[in-house]
Amino acid sequence: MKYGYFDDKNREYVITNPRTPWPWINYLGNEDFFSLISNSAGGYTFYKDAKFRRITRYRYNNVPMDSGGKYFYIKDGENIWSPGWKPCKTELDSYECRHGMNYTNIRGEKNGITANVLYFVPLKTWAEVQKLTLTNNSKTVRKIKVFSFIEWCLWNAASDMENFQRNFSTGEVEIEGSVIYHKTEYKERRDHYAYYSVNVPIQGYDTDRESFFGLYNGFDEPQVVAEGKPKNTEAHGWSPIASHCIEVELKPGESKDFIFVLGYVENKEDEKWESKNIINKKKAKETLAKFNTTAKVDNALADLRKYWDNLLSIYTVNSGDDKLDRIVNIWNQYQCMITFCFSRSASFFESGIGRGMGFRDSNQDLTGFVHQIPERARERIIDIASTQFQDGGCYHQYQPLNKRGNNDIGGGFNDDPLWLILGTVSYIKETGDFGILEEMVPFDNDISVARSLFDHLTVSFDHVVNNLGPHGLPLIGRADWNDCLNLNCFSNDPNESFQTTENKTEGSKAESVMIAGLFVVYGRDYANLCNRLGKHNEAKRVQKHVDKMVDVIKKYGWDGEWFIRAYDYYGRKIGSNENEEAKIFIESNGWCTMAGIGKEEGLCNKALNAVKERLDSKYGIVLNNPAFTKYYIEYGEISSYPAGYKENAGVFCHNNPWIMIGETVVGNGNRAWEYYRKICPSYLEEISDLHKTEPYVYAQMVAGKDAFKPGEAKNSWLTGTASWNFYAVTQYMLGIRPDYDGLLIDPCIPTDWKGFKATRKFRGATYRIEVVNPNGKSKGISEVMVDGKPHKSNLIPVFGDGKEHSVKVVLG
Ligand code: BGC
Repeated sequence: MKYGYFDDKNREYVITNPRTPWPWINYLGNEDFFSLISNSAGGYTFYKDAKFRRITRYRYNNVPMDSGGKYFYIKDGENIWSPGWKPCKTELDSYECRHGMNYTNIRGEKNGITANVLYFVPLKTWAEVQKLTLTNNSKTVRKIKVFSFIEWCLWNAASDMENFQRNFSTGEVEIEGSVIYHKTEYKERRDHYAYYSVNVPIQGYDTDRESFFGLYNGFDEPQVVAEGKPKNTEAHGWSPIASHCIEVELKPGESKDFIFVLGYVENKEDEKWESKNIINKKKAKETLAKFNTTAKVDNALADLRKYWDNLLSIYTVNSGDDKLDRIVNIWNQYQCMITFCFSRSASFFESGIGRGMGFRDSNQDLTGFVHQIPERARERIIDIASTQFQDGGCYHQYQPLNKRGNNDIGGGFNDDPLWLILGTVSYIKETGDFGILEEMVPFDNDISVARSLFDHLTVSFDHVVNNLGPHGLPLIGRADWNDCLNLNCFSNDPNESFQTTENKTEGSKAESVMIAGLFVVYGRDYANLCNRLGKHNEAKRVQKHVDKMVDVIKKYGWDGEWFIRAYDYYGRKIGSNENEEAKIFIESNGWCTMAGIGKEEGLCNKALNAVKERLDSKYGIVLNNPAFTKYYIEYGEISSYPAGYKENAGVFCHNNPWIMIGETVVGNGNRAWEYYRKICPSYLEEISDLHKTEPYVYAQMVAGKDAFKPGEAKNSWLTGTASWNFYAVTQYMLGIRPDYDGLLIDPCIPTDWKGFKATRKFRGATYRIEVVNPNGKSKGISEVMVDGKPHKSNLIPVFGDGKEHSVKVVLG
């Protein structure tokens, strides 16, 4: 069953039934100021950091689901309703939610009145704008009342949820005209406040939550709205909110706009106050003045649309398959922007409190984003590298607000450093900016020990070289990419985290074949980079280690039919036919085939066939098989999950593209695309009831074949699946790949495709690419024409001339 449809022309997903199987959300803002918004206007807002600068409160995992948000209540006589259906849940005559590129438009209609709310964060603005348009479609004059509602969070979203002995006494607001200011803790250590305003005079307001709702009422029945009369309350402690009341009269056919702005301000210490206890409102007023008319708001939305027109014009495909085109051209790229902004911090599955930016996550996210705004990717690379330690190790996560490594989780995840090579190389291949390698970058944010970014790559590579285990394979540390394969963290205490409990690395023999494959791929990239920089000795040294690793993998990482996953603490194989459970894993087979290890001897084909046979399922490739059915203390969290979920034999979508790329290495386009379609959300729209999460974005995990309900997705939005799928499909399957000296065209498509067209803007020129497939091939090129002339290779040069160039590639 479907709950809406794709409107590709407007780049929107249109939800027509508010009872989606799970809140289907969108993100507003793409730089500093952000909101999450569901199809029924649930969600919350923050500035930069969802933990430390939470502006509005949210209740996770509540009853009912998705409680709290940016609500409007319409009181029309005795009828009370909300345009997004929730929270009132009054049956609407019509409902529609359009999630677009960083904006959401929710429209509800009841008894001849339409309420349309456009929510967005204008570019370069620390505020969310909400344009409420009320229209009278009836034949009589209508008098209605509108109540807005948001609930302030007391800034730190973690302590906001636990420290009530303090919180209930600190809340402070200030009200001036139609603007409600939230200034809790402003008089002491905070230099920021927030505000919520509307651009018309109001009939009244409320800022005390219990007075507004009544102590025992829910979001669905605020007492003030039922009574139709604001109480003009001023919050002192307890739970401050902001609600405006507006009386509106509408003639038949008349429409009126009301512009609400929810904003955030920072003031310097000596500019904090206007007078004693009265906050300096100058900056808030400046922002309000920018958005106080419909025309200004419409212009700001038009600017946002233009911004996205531009970003999404960089890579477009025309394959003739709508489901593919819309995901590649619109939603996958959009999701890559979102994962770039948030890593794994704030979604409807990530609370925004637990995790900051992941070192490995953010590097991988760059691969799907770097073509959009390379300058921001550059800055991110420097930020990430600044949290690295001098020995090449690094913090596993850092906080976006202060960009400092997170001590709670610490380091010791031995795959982490290698991803910095991926992030950096992706950036240079896109931009040609080798200068980034000369940037001086601190270690652990200590500028006194800064070294060049290039040196950071060297220590990243050497971190593996310096941490090899008994077989010569990389030691795994706390975990590799699979956070849940905790081979050194023996935990039998349910009160501790699997990852941060003791790390018994002393005497450990736990090695990762996945890191080994990763090391080969990014070691080669690093060697290649060294050669380009004329550092041939370094390149030779690196290549030696890489070659050795290839041998070691063949010797100790091969199980006869596939690549094993790891060696455990005691030196026993994991992911081998010898094991009783989890005989085979996806990750090592993905990385070793991407690296082409043993391709000539047929190892890659064998491994990929084993994946097909043992791991593939109707809904994607599961992570391991057979699933673990009991807890293995020496494997850790992976075996804690019920069979078929998450890292225990779930379809962990993030790693499916590794196999797809592996399939392209051996030229098997049919299989690569078959895998792709299984996890690509636009192909799953029809089964939304089962799939549950949004049909426009990837989910991290889909329940695997051993699960109770195979096919049910979880953890949508913030997942490396976004960048990896974009990378796999655009660079390896459609095969348009930025390289140091140009754009490499090397498609691997299904044999029944006749071809496709694509446009790629790359280093200052536009490449109009046509791939034709007259002989039903998957891979291999017989002819290349550039600007109508034969071209000797499939590497199309950098033109950088601001012009369009035609590229025709014939498969054969
Ligand atoms: C984490 C990733 C990790 C993956 C697999 C995700 O939740 O963000 O860093 O690689 O899980 O465990």
